[in-house]
Amino acid sequence: MINPKLPYIWYGGDYNPEQWDKEIWKEDVRLFKLAHINIATVNVFSWALLQPSEDTYDFSMLDEIIDNLWKNGIYICLATSTASQPHWMSVKYPEILPVDINGNKRAHGGRVNFCPNSKIYRYFAGKLVEKLAERYANHPAVLVWHIANEYGTYCFCENCIKEFRDWLKRKYGTLEELNKRWYTTFWSQTIYDWNEITAPTLRSVMFHHWWTGKLSTVAQGMVLDYYRFMSESILECYLNEYNIIKKYNPNIPVTTNLMGAFKPLNYFEWAKHMDVVSWDSYPYLTDDYISIAFRHSLMRGLKQGEPFMLMEQTPSQTNWQPYCYIKRPKVMRLQSYQAVAQGADTVMFFQLRQSRGGPEKFHGAVISHAGHENTRVFQEVKQLGEELENLGDTILGSKVKSQTAVIFDWENWWALENSQGPSTAINYVGGVESYFRALFENLMGVDVIGIEDNFEKYKVVVAPFLYMVKKETAEKIKEYVRKGGIFVTTTLSGLVDENDLVYLGGYPAPLRDLLGIWVEEFDALPPEMKNEIQITDEFKKEFSKETYECNLVFDVIHLEKDTVKSIGIYTKDYYKGQPVVTVNKYGDGYAYYVGSFASHEFLKDLIKYISKAHKIEPLFKDVPYGVEITQRVKNNKVFTFVLNHTEEVKRINIGNRKKDLISGKIYEGEIEIAPREVLILEE
Ligand code: GLA
Ligand code: ZN
Repeated sequence: MINPKLPYIWYGGDYNPEQWDKEIWKEDVRLFKLAHINIATVNVFSWALLQPSEDTYDFSMLDEIIDNLWKNGIYICLATSTASQPHWMSVKYPEILPVDINGNKRAHGGRVNFCPNSKIYRYFAGKLVEKLAERYANHPAVLVWHIANEYGTYCFCENCIKEFRDWLKRKYGTLEELNKRWYTTFWSQTIYDWNEITAPTLRSVMFHHWWTGKLSTVAQGMVLDYYRFMSESILECYLNEYNIIKKYNPNIPVTTNLMGAFKPLNYFEWAKHMDVVSWDSYPYLTDDYISIAFRHSLMRGLKQGEPFMLMEQTPSQTNWQPYCYIKRPKVMRLQSYQAVAQGADTVMFFQLRQSRGGPEKFHGAVISHAGHENTRVFQEVKQLGEELENLGDTILGSKVKSQTAVIFDWENWWALENSQGPSTAINYVGGVESYFRALFENLMGVDVIGIEDNFEKYKVVVAPFLYMVKKETAEKIKEYVRKGGIFVTTTLSGLVDENDLVYLGGYPAPLRDLLGIWVEEFDALPPEMKNEIQITDEFKKEFSKETYECNLVFDVIHLEKDTVKSIGIYTKDYYKGQPVVTVNKYGDGYAYYVGSFASHEFLKDLIKYISKAHKIEPLFKDVPYGVEITQRVKNNKVFTFVLNHTEEVKRINIGNRKKDLISGKIYEGEIEIAPREVLILEE
């Protein structure tokens, strides 16, 4: 349990009473109780109120806010307010303000607008947190700490450059080594003095790609290191606060709100320093339930499947999206249960009362501008609150059951998308998601894991587009397969080392022996120019179609071992008839290779074939698209979540008698699930 003091699914969210007069606070509490809200996240953006000047701190309002909630039985997720420093501070100490990628010094404004390497920023943030922790770390209402808010701003200032040089000295020791790793002989970039090293901005090595407009670079090695350095620098800001809080009370868990597949920060590294992962889920209208599940799984994977916090979601609209669509009736409830199904032990909103001004005035909230409970949104929030309260602690702490995993790697993401060539159409997150989707739709139970995680607990591990493979990773993968694991990888894998230097001797060098193939060259064509995967005779009966589409990248593959077989061949171009999908028996396991961007139909059928060939039972059988089945397990007890994400009635067979924890009803055999309905079935 995240904190056993509140043995329920935590229900509440961001609350900013400092925007309102105290008359409203009373009404807030009345409405929170009505909605069964048991936690409020406070103090997210209050630094300017807490510290009106350099020498004055004032906690009187925060005291009152916390007291008002606590005397009404509402617990606190206590934020530290350090995402947005006071205006006076930026003016008095301009070194706090960051330099952006254009090389421009920022002025004060907005949020997360500070240089992560500013000693003054860290000093003031630390001092504030020291005072907050001193005052509230042992307050009975505080369940969890929420450091800053949505970290992520990279800085390119002189101060960061200096720190970067020191970071590089520690990493490489000598300039000789650095020049080698960065491959600086290319274009006469040799560095003779540490002080020559600068930051990768649009004034130096970054540029917007002339064709796509995407941010691109001509200094792969350096940029990769700068991303690593920035992710670490920002993490140090978090740790600065974390360590102070822990001094005052080590037992209260500490988190910061993450953002899903967010490129600037290597969240696997971050999660090592978080007591619980929390994240903010704001799906776009175009995201289907599998895309949402993918992001939840990624966040769950950061701490190896431990329950996480859904820190924020909107009850209805999201103001910053291009079109602020309304969550249709029952969708907020459905998506809340989806988060729980995927491993969340909290359901929290941004925000509890809708702001009157500012950019988020049209963001959804539990209490809307109407100001009372007679709204559709409030009534839905209230119903869900009642239900979650009734669930008590039954599912708290249970873990999602998964037999398969896809690997997601931030450093690989950075390297792959910074590479010029082979294609500007490559989208790493989308690529990983396409394999996640195929596993998910086959109901295999999927985790998203990091490169350092244990592979051995999974029957299948998929590493899509694992362009960068460190030597030890290649060894780990081979070991996994040797012992009987099923491994799937794809085109653009095993090409470079951790400095983006190509492995010589034939692609994909570190995985060549495992896969039993040699990729002689890879063709890249515009997305609309397709080829086909034609299933070979031996595998024909295992696939529902004879040919499937593929596009973007086309590996020209040679089979190198007797143990390797071709599952599919190209039907067109000069490589017609050559293998595109292969499988190699290696030790006690098998290694599959998909040498192109294959259609979803193909990936789905391939996973189906793999599960059949290696006798991996799906969690459930015959489940139509749109129905999500996820299982969480605690003390050998299985909770099966059935979520109908469609607007139609769906039928599935649930086998023997089960009780729905939400309605209390008993179900058996073939059942109907109403549109957007949810069941949590207990054996
Ligand atoms: C983020 C932030 C919140 C708020 C919401 C609005 O998740 O953490 O402060 O701005 O977005 O969607
Ligand atoms: Zn800086």
